[in-house]
Amino acid sequence: MTKIECILRPGKLEDVKEAVNKYGIHGMTVTQVIGCGLQKGRTEVYRGAEYSINLLPKIKLEMVIPDEDVAEVLKIITEVARTGEIGDGKIFTYKIDDAIRIRTGEKGDDAI
Ligand SMILES: Nc1ncnc2c1ncn2[C@@H]1O[C@H](COP(=O)(O)OP(=O)(O)OP(=O)(O)O)[C@@H](O)[C@H]1O
Ligand SMILES: [Mg+2]
Repeated sequence: MTKIECILRPGKLEDVKEAVNKYGIHGMTVTQVIGCGLQKGRTEVYRGAEYSINLLPKIKLEMVIPDEDVAEVLKIITEVARTGEIGDGKIFTYKIDDAIRIRTGEKGDDAI
C-alpha cells in the first residue's frame, strides 16, 4: 500500500476527487492547510486578492491505495490539478506498512 499526499489548489479539489472516484478510489482524507513553496507565497493571487502574508490556503488530500494503482492515480491527479502556473502544488508518496478496518478487523489491501 502507498499513501498519496497531495497539496492542491483549493479550487481543484472537486475535479481531482471526481477523477479519482471515477477510477475507483473512494477512501480519502481532506484537510484545509496553509503552506508555501519555492516562491514563499509572494507572487500568488488567491480569489483575486494578492496575499501579503507568505502562507497561502491549500488543500491536503490523503489517500492510501493499492501499490498497483499508484502510477495511474498519480497520472490522473497530476493532469487534473495542473494549471501550468506557479503554485499548482505537490504530491508526496509514502510506503504504508498496514491498514485495519476497525469495524471488521480486515487488514492490508482488504481494509482500504
Ligand atoms: N518541500 C515541501 N514540503 C512540504 N510541503 C510543500 C513543499 N513544497 C511545497 N509544499 C506545499 O505545497 C504547496 C504548493 O507548493 P507549490 O506548488 O507552490 O510548490 P513550488 O515548489 O513552489 O512549485 P511552483 O514553482 O510550481 O509554485 C505549498 O503551499 C506547500 O503547502
Ligand atoms: Mg510555488
